[in-house]
Amino acid sequence: MDRTFVMVKPDGVQRGLAGEIISRFEAKGLKLVGAKLELLPEERVVEQYREHLEKPFFPGLKAYIMSGPCFLMVWEGKGAVAVVRRMVGATNPAEAAPGSIRGDFALDIGRNVIHASDSPESAVRELGIHFEAEDLVGYSRID
Ligand code: CMP
Repeated sequence: MDRTFVMVKPDGVQRGLAGEIISRFEAKGLKLVGAKLELLPEERVVEQYREHLEKPFFPGLKAYIMSGPCFLMVWEGKGAVAVVRRMVGATNPAEAAPGSIRGDFALDIGRNVIHASDSPESAVRELGIHFEAEDLVGYSRID
């Protein structure tokens, strides 16, 4: 079954949005198979965002992600990567559709509340950075 990596960023945790975000994915029919609240160490932030290392916004992005705890999750379901990306909305919240998480809860690209893997390959890579296989729990969802 398809899995994707999702992270509520420190602004989302501090604003009390984690529960609303979990509820949206649960209501959609996705299954939560892993979760933890964590202050990310620098090495994992660098690994997570390695494609952005040379970008001018990287130092600010790193400071933002390390400014407080993130809520890291793994969600499972048919087409989970694409479904979650649609529900999360455009990277720049100013362009994110109303009804999407960023469209409803964010305005600034530098405080965009949530991260979700952008492809199945990224999901495998990002999951591997943050979770051990034994952290993930299999069970049946009754829909
Ligand atoms: P995310 O989906 O986590 O993927 C990369 C992150 O980099 C993105 O969300 C934003 O948090 C951040 N980002 C991308 N572009 C910019 C930008 N122009 N200015 C500041 N942050 C950015």
